[in-house]
Amino acid sequence: MSSIGTPLSPSALKVMLLGSGELGKEVLIALQRLGVETIAVDRYPDAPGHQVAHHARTVTMTDPAQLRALIEAERPHIVVPEIEAIATATLEALESEGVVRVIPTARAARLTMDREGIRRLAAETLGLPTSPYGFCDSLAALQAAIDGGIGYPCVVKPVMSSSGKGQSKIDGPAEVQAAWDAAMSGGRVQQGRIIVEGFIDFDYEITLLTVRARSAAGGTETRFCEPIGHIQVQGDYVESWQPHRMPDVALARAQDIARAITDDLGGHGVFGVELFVKGDHVWFSEVSPRPHDTGMVTMATQWQSEFELHARAILGLPVDTTLRSAGASAVIYGGLDATGVSFDGVAEALHVPGTDLRLFGKPEAFVKRRMGVALACAEDVEQARARAKDAAAKVRPRR
Ligand SMILES: Nc1ncnc2c1ncn2[C@@H]1O[C@H](COP(=O)(O)OP(=O)(O)O)[C@@H](O)[C@H]1O
Ligand SMILES: [Mg+2]
Repeated sequence: MSSIGTPLSPSALKVMLLGSGELGKEVLIALQRLGVETIAVDRYPDAPGHQVAHHARTVTMTDPAQLRALIEAERPHIVVPEIEAIATATLEALESEGVVRVIPTARAARLTMDREGIRRLAAETLGLPTSPYGFCDSLAALQAAIDGGIGYPCVVKPVMSSSGKGQSKIDGPAEVQAAWDAAMSGGRVQQGRIIVEGFIDFDYEITLLTVRARSAAGGTETRFCEPIGHIQVQGDYVESWQPHRMPDVALARAQDIARAITDDLGGHGVFGVELFVKGDHVWFSEVSPRPHDTGMVTMATQWQSEFELHARAILGLPVDTTLRSAGASAVIYGGLDATGVSFDGVAEALHVPGTDLRLFGKPEAFVKRRMGVALACAEDVEQARARAKDAAAKVRPRR
């Protein structure tokens, strides 16, 4: 474990973020506070994390040659993937050559970059409960998978996609073609492969932030944050809160599932384990081997936010997942397509008691692009949710 030195000097401990959106930006800030030299990488210039790091680099991270050249030139001690769309085979090669340490591991980055790797690991290798599923390369195969047991309703998603892109719910045979077409145009990389999942009629869904960190004895310990409840609209998170109260049995099952999947993925860092819950039943949905968007609420609710936890775990430092206050987050969307937007209503939003804001600084707004988030603390989750939504609604991006 390399020690922390002085940034911009020969003793510097250098950490590179692959992906520098709003989540990476907060990880970078947390690392900087601990005296780490930071390199922010994204596919476009002036990304949120670029604006707060010592060094900003723009490369195509899915291109193996570009990624290798960048890492060999910058020589970070640690590489922290913030997104899924990365040439993970290159990371595996560099890790096995001993060139860099990848957080949590290069294998975890590879397994979670598409839905197939992680689903097969969870369901087939580890035997965790998941929705019934199949992988299909054609419309005919999709129809056969549905007719062969998955049934209706079901959900179709490109194997490589995030934030609900290309994802749709199918309620009956008439909708299969449209769902296939949407998946084909919505995937991150055009490879014509989808997952079809049986629809789980859950009571609620949670993110269980799980931290693998160095223990006092020098081994690895696993700690859980309080469950985060959230609402997704068309596969994209719009609101989250913490703690989400749940029955003891369901919580114990959720923690068992989270421990099983994160033990297997290994390494140190924060994981966002997504779970569906109905009564005492818990299904594994997916996992991010990094901070989770719904976990932005922890900037208001925990002594150490998920970003601070990630930074500490990465550096081999102790972590504390204790909740400080009930709280909530609500997303601020662009609402228009424009570059260089201004924000009206910021002061009004911050007049809502117990609130805070993050404006990410993205150079370009889209109607459905996340441009900021409102955070709120309160006596209870209901009040916090009301405050966060109120504050978010007051912030209005304009040309
Ligand atoms: N099998 C399913 N049954 C019910 N809802 C689902 C299912 N799969 C996804 N969803 C809903 O869609 C959201 C996004 O799906 P997810 O697999 O997490 O995709 P992404 O990688 O884009 O976050 C989930 O948080 C959940 O609300
Ligand atoms: Mg998800």
